[in-house]
Amino acid sequence: MSGLKSGPISEARTPAENGLESGPISEARTCAEYGLESGPISEARTCAEYGLESGAISEARTPAEYAPGSLLTVEHLTLADVAEILALTTRLERMAAAERARVLERRTIALLFYESSTRTRTSFELAAKSLGATTTLVSDKSSSIEKGESLKDTGLTLRALGAEAIVLRHAASGGPVLLARVTGLPVLNAGDGMHQHPSQALLDLRTMLLRLGFGVDATVSATLLAGVTVAITGDIRHSRVARSNAMLLPRLGARVVLCGPPELLPEDALGLGPGIEIERDFDQALARATVAMMLRIQKERLEGTALNLAEYVERYQLNGERLARAPRELLVMHPGPIIRGLEITGEVADGAQSAIEEQVTQGLAVRRALLVRALGVTA
Ligand code: CP
Repeated sequence: MSGLKSGPISEARTPAENGLESGPISEARTCAEYGLESGPISEARTCAEYGLESGAISEARTPAEYAPGSLLTVEHLTLADVAEILALTTRLERMAAAERARVLERRTIALLFYESSTRTRTSFELAAKSLGATTTLVSDKSSSIEKGESLKDTGLTLRALGAEAIVLRHAASGGPVLLARVTGLPVLNAGDGMHQHPSQALLDLRTMLLRLGFGVDATVSATLLAGVTVAITGDIRHSRVARSNAMLLPRLGARVVLCGPPELLPEDALGLGPGIEIERDFDQALARATVAMMLRIQKERLEGTALNLAEYVERYQLNGERLARAPRELLVMHPGPIIRGLEITGEVADGAQSAIEEQVTQGLAVRRALLVRALGVTA
């Protein structure tokens, strides 16, 4: 047995028996392990607000404290940043593919995903490859994360291997902030807990500009979306997409109406930003809307709530009949994944008013720009 104490190698025992420092595995390493992610929207925000990491995270709250090009939250974006990202998206889109493939030549980007993802992961990866970058994907399910390696050590390992930027999806709110702080690398938040999904908000914005007729060259300003009302409906409580959109869109002049039952939309969601309204009646919300942004019911997070799904479908499902009753032709959006027959019918998701596939396509375009910005390349 080559000096092994007993039994086969696959019989992993305790950290101490394997020569690990005492306690590190059982000590909390990520926000998720502190049992966060419970309670209403206002109770689960960032690691910083929970005083994790000996206060270091809470001391680093402004964009200047992270590597330039990081995108951790829409709160860090100025309107000038939004304008720059959208303009860069358009420049890259109009570039010949061969020229685009040289923009990030010999650059290395790590994709670190602790949660499943189809759209975000694939679009970041394809975006990086289309720019000529080398990518590596690390998933919690097939890496040393499964053995208990912390987010910090995983980030430091990726940096030591040459990663120049990290795209992170994490189940814990604040994971990207922690990673940005400990690695000093540009970090792009690909969705953290119930906190933020900033690249989704940017791709949603570009989709609206295209589909509502503003065009991709529209000048970004505090009044660009004046007259546009976005009704975000569904599981607002658990949605990082809702939070990012509700924080970004009003800054461009849009009105945001949040819609859903109290179990999924607590009153304190009003605190997400100025000018946000709550409307419990879905038909009333649609009557005021320009855009109907639907959200997935996160069944995995419903335990302990009194939500009756049949009643929810009756009151809040976007179906053909409801859409036809709306006084104007609504643009239908959904960040995905969609659950056909629950929050939206297949007829509506596949219909002419739906921008769901366009959103996915815009994800690729916008994420190219975010990667170029993260690596500080002029294009
Ligand atoms: N919209 C979104 O984040 O989808 P994925 O979970 O598939 O990345």
